[in-house]
Amino acid sequence: MASTHRTAFGVKILNSTHAEVRRLKREGYVAEIHGNKFWNSSFLIMDYLKRHPLQDQVRVLEIGCGWGLLGIYCARQFKARVTGIDADGNVLPYMALHAQHNGVTIEGQKMTFQQLTTARLRDFDIILGADICFWDEMSGMLFNLIKRAQKAGVSQVLIADPCRAPFTHLAEHCQQVFGDKARVEEKWLQKPVNASGEILIVDLA
Ligand SMILES: C[S@@+](CC[C@H](N)C(=O)[O-])C[C@H]1O[C@@H](n2cnc3c(N)ncnc32)[C@H](O)[C@@H]1O
Repeated sequence: MASTHRTAFGVKILNSTHAEVRRLKREGYVAEIHGNKFWNSSFLIMDYLKRHPLQDQVRVLEIGCGWGLLGIYCARQFKARVTGIDADGNVLPYMALHAQHNGVTIEGQKMTFQQLTTARLRDFDIILGADICFWDEMSGMLFNLIKRAQKAGVSQVLIADPCRAPFTHLAEHCQQVFGDKARVEEKWLQKPVNASGEILIVDLA
């Protein structure tokens, strides 16, 4: 029988054919903004963090979390205290399901990038996001979020993407405004899947 899950970077990822994923879909949890599956750019950040580990217990915010595997990776590998936010509340049960399968606890909240106030961002040390900058208006939303994160005392923001135009625009804008504190790292992975793209890394501390 074909497997209904895979494991990558120590994280168990359920397939869309998995009985519990299918049950959630039947119950009406249907993603509305592309959060219907796990996207590969998360692997780029997992690979980066494997080489640049986070401190234990760091407070991580995963934005546009979808199924939340990137946050789950941080909770498993670094005992990070993780919150995932997404504009689409329908993805949060899939994150909870994956957290359960991976033996970690993660807080999930339905919230947009724009709703993350400076006061709320004070609760976090690191902000992560993968495949979240795909519409033109997202460049501005994410740039403004990074500015608020700086005010809030967040130390680092990492955003990965297969280099769609809005992401490239965001990266260039950050490099203009934050200078040396913003850089882009190119990544090519052959395992666990062929994936390529860039990680925008903004050091705010
Ligand atoms: C392509 S999916 C990526 C999901 C996940 N990060 C991954 O890598 O598997 C984009 C996610 O961003 C969320 N999203 C889109 N616009 C958003 C916004 N303005 N605020 C918060 N989340 C948003 C979507 O609901 C979706 O779950």
